[in-house]
Amino acid sequence: MRFPLSLDLLRRLPRHPDWKYELIDGEAVLSSRPRPLGFRRPTDMAVAAAPKHDAEVRAVEATRDRAGLVTLLLDVWSDEDPYRSFEEDVREAELRRELERTVERPEELEGAVALDTHGLCAGLLVMGSGPPALTWLSVRRDVRGRGLATALLSVVVDALAARGEPELGSYASAANVPSVRWHLACGFALTPDRLRELLRRDGSA
Ligand SMILES: CC(C)(COP(=O)(O)OP(=O)(O)OC[C@H]1O[C@@H](n2cnc3c(N)ncnc32)[C@H](O)[C@@H]1OP(=O)(O)O)[C@@H](O)C(=O)NCCC(=O)NCCS
Repeated sequence: MRFPLSLDLLRRLPRHPDWKYELIDGEAVLSSRPRPLGFRRPTDMAVAAAPKHDAEVRAVEATRDRAGLVTLLLDVWSDEDPYRSFEEDVREAELRRELERTVERPEELEGAVALDTHGLCAGLLVMGSGPPALTWLSVRRDVRGRGLATALLSVVVDALAARGEPELGSYASAANVPSVRWHLACGFALTPDRLRELLRRDGSA
């Protein structure tokens, strides 16, 4: 995103932790630069779920859930950072490509979904490679705050614990307050970040 701006105004512009702010040839140049916080939680710690919903919550069934997942994730994420943008077409096309890549190998799809009378209303996937980590956690706007994300987590944590995985990782933008609060409420702890600690000790962050 580029627009004309003076150096003085650029310095006073409110900052978002996931965006880079530069001044090039008299224009402010804002570009997305996600720097997520890392979280982790042991899988042998039970998820304290107090559901306020009557959705069906179960493990992902790849072939059956693929289309519903893409629709839900497109709907939720086209309005969330880092995909929310003034350049709507570009971002939405990028998001769609990423989602289609994620669900293109159904045999590798792992996670949990919730279904209500309108269809798939919440979903959460586990990253395909490396140590297990949550990704694409999404709850339809009209059913947030009812314990659905927590119920999905419970399904995933039980499955990981049953096959001997000791830990579940996750990431969230520092600017995504609902997500950070959700992670902390669900027993995740921030992973140590050496650079952040050094900057903090140095007084730069
Ligand atoms: C973050 C998100 C997944 C939470 O889903 P949810 O189903 O509403 O969460 P839950 O109902 O399970 O919340 C459990 C606890 O998390 C915390 N929490 C969840 N949403 C919160 C919010 N908006 N503000 C503050 N705390 C919140 C609360 O402690 C809550 O417990 P309480 O309801 O007893 O207060 C949902 O807001 C969402 O889909 N956001 C958009 C996509 C996104 O940001 N995903 C996360 C990517 S890392």
